[in-house]
Amino acid sequence: MRTRPLGRSGIDVSVVTLGSMNFGKDLDEREGVELVAAYLDHGGNFLDTADCYADGLSETIVGAARRRLGDRFAICTKTGRPMFDDERQSGYAPQRLRNALEASLRRLGVDHVEMYQLHQWDPAVPVEDAVETLAALRDEGKIGAFGIGNVPAWALGQAYGFCRGRAIAGADAYQYHYSLGCRDAEAEILPACVAHGAGLMAWSPLSGGLLTGKYATQPGASGPRRGDKPVGRRGYGFERLADGWPAICESLRLVADRTGTSMTAVALSWLLSRPGVVTAVIGARSPAQLAETIGTPLPELGPEYLAALTENAPAVTPYPQDFLTQVLPGWDLMAVTRREAVG
Ligand SMILES: NC(=O)c1ccc[n+]([C@@H]2O[C@H](COP(=O)([O-])OP(=O)(O)OC[C@H]3O[C@@H](n4cnc5c(N)ncnc54)[C@H](OP(=O)(O)O)[C@@H]3O)[C@@H](O)[C@H]2O)c1
Repeated sequence: MRTRPLGRSGIDVSVVTLGSMNFGKDLDEREGVELVAAYLDHGGNFLDTADCYADGLSETIVGAARRRLGDRFAICTKTGRPMFDDERQSGYAPQRLRNALEASLRRLGVDHVEMYQLHQWDPAVPVEDAVETLAALRDEGKIGAFGIGNVPAWALGQAYGFCRGRAIAGADAYQYHYSLGCRDAEAEILPACVAHGAGLMAWSPLSGGLLTGKYATQPGASGPRRGDKPVGRRGYGFERLADGWPAICESLRLVADRTGTSMTAVALSWLLSRPGVVTAVIGARSPAQLAETIGTPLPELGPEYLAALTENAPAVTPYPQDFLTQVLPGWDLMAVTRREAVG
């Protein structure tokens, strides 16, 4: 599998990261370790977890994989969402961040992680303060690099400006929801990645399974369901696909047929063609699902295929981007941010 530099972190990560949100929930320890082993066999080298996933069990299983399979993958973990539904176990006050990292390291059975991230927004703590704590943890060698996710783009700008002002290295990665099923990140987040030299880790690139083609798309069918739950309610952003996902699946199927690959591989290839995106953070329930997606090299998609895929998956262009598109025909936000990017 190809690798790419993750921002300026100094680590090269595989273009597909294995997410472990379902470890300790859908997958027990044996199944989780087996999935990690299959992922490594396909050439992957980066695992994503978080302290809140299954209230710490996901980290424990990733730690078990590390012990059994060795030092063959880098770990990204996150904090900031409550564990055990306890709001006190979230937030970015300096001591809480330090305690949360220590607890994650214990569960993972390691003395440092390659990437540590803020999982979401904490309006009670200025983002500059949180970043200052993360930079200190990096200086102490407890984390190799840090990242931020699920915060407004202006806060990313504040964090970036703060770090530049202090001549310290800033966030190396941003982690956001981005896929053919939800292109909102294109308005602000992708340009911020490019401008700040951070790499995007794109979560839920298959819209939690909706873009795999496994759900009925025919009129009259019972609709997308997972167990006894409508899939659209399962995760953030998927409900917006209530009407749109069958058409996106049709485009994916068409391109998959023409390129002799799978719909899931095509969905990832599209994502990885986008500026700023470094790696797609996928989920899988079994080695068989993984094999379908990454068992063969991801296809390189030419412009005609890329255009066919977005035909049924239009981007949302909010103000002021929409305004600028009208008054500056042909303007390109990515080009502007690239010009302004500071190494
Ligand atoms: N930073 C954040 O706020 C955030 C939020 C969400 C997720 N994440 C990260 O992103 C990771 C992935 O999230 P996700 O699970 O929503 O991602 P996803 O890749 O969009 O969806 C994964 C799901 O799709 C289905 N699937 C995958 N490959 C398949 C195949 N070949 N055939 C049929 N079905 C297939 C499986 O669903 P079934 O289990 O139903 O079969 C699998 O659990 C998480 O583990 C986590 O690490 C981060």
